[in-house]
Amino acid sequence: MEILVLYYSRNGSVAKMAQLIARGIEEVDGVTARLRTVPSVSPVCTAVEDDIPAQGPPYVSLDDLQQCQGLALGSPTRFGNMAAPLKYFIDTTSALWLSGALSGKPAAVFTSTSTLHGGQESTLLSMMLPLLHHGMLLLGIPYSEADLVTTTSGGTPYGASHMAGTDSDQPISQEEKRLCLSLGTRLATTASQLRL
Ligand SMILES: Cc1cc2nc3c(=O)[nH]c(=O)nc-3n(C[C@H](O)[C@H](O)[C@H](O)COP(=O)(O)O)c2cc1C
Repeated sequence: MEILVLYYSRNGSVAKMAQLIARGIEEVDGVTARLRTVPSVSPVCTAVEDDIPAQGPPYVSLDDLQQCQGLALGSPTRFGNMAAPLKYFIDTTSALWLSGALSGKPAAVFTSTSTLHGGQESTLLSMMLPLLHHGMLLLGIPYSEADLVTTTSGGTPYGASHMAGTDSDQPISQEEKRLCLSLGTRLATTASQLRL
């Protein structure tokens, strides 16, 4: 069983969160994480990127979404919303929407911001909207996770989050880290239970 961890990251914060969520996923027996990213979008429509990114995981394909039994979707917060490259890819998934390929699969979302009140919740909630259209089953983080109560940076009931600071140099706090891990584990456990 594989869970797709699909993210966009320009400065590395969301990439670090993706790795923690993948580790949490792989805590569950028989479940592996498939890490994928998306290319940047260019204002010049004809510009193309190499098929293989210079670093990090491969670019996602529609087959990745089809083949995986769950999805963790991560994006930097941009003006309180997900980043354009991720939305651009999501807007190519109409065929999967028509066939219902993602319907009934569990999903979770994660984000990073530079500031504490810069829109983590609005980004997480708006990232859920296309996934709900696809019929996915959205998971959050329950308040039984003590870190949700004590965190002074990221971590929300709507998904995992990180406050990276205005120079993107704040390390992922212990609370943020544990919440990423537990969200990944929760997603993988749910996917396993749904397959039983
Ligand atoms: C165009 C743009 C818009 C942004 N909008 C917000 C915002 O609304 N709130 C916020 O706190 N940070 C905002 N940021 C900062 C990023 O969310 C933050 O640096 C994030 O940690 C980047 O993740 P990454 O390191 O994975 O690229 C914005 C950054 C850019 C480039």
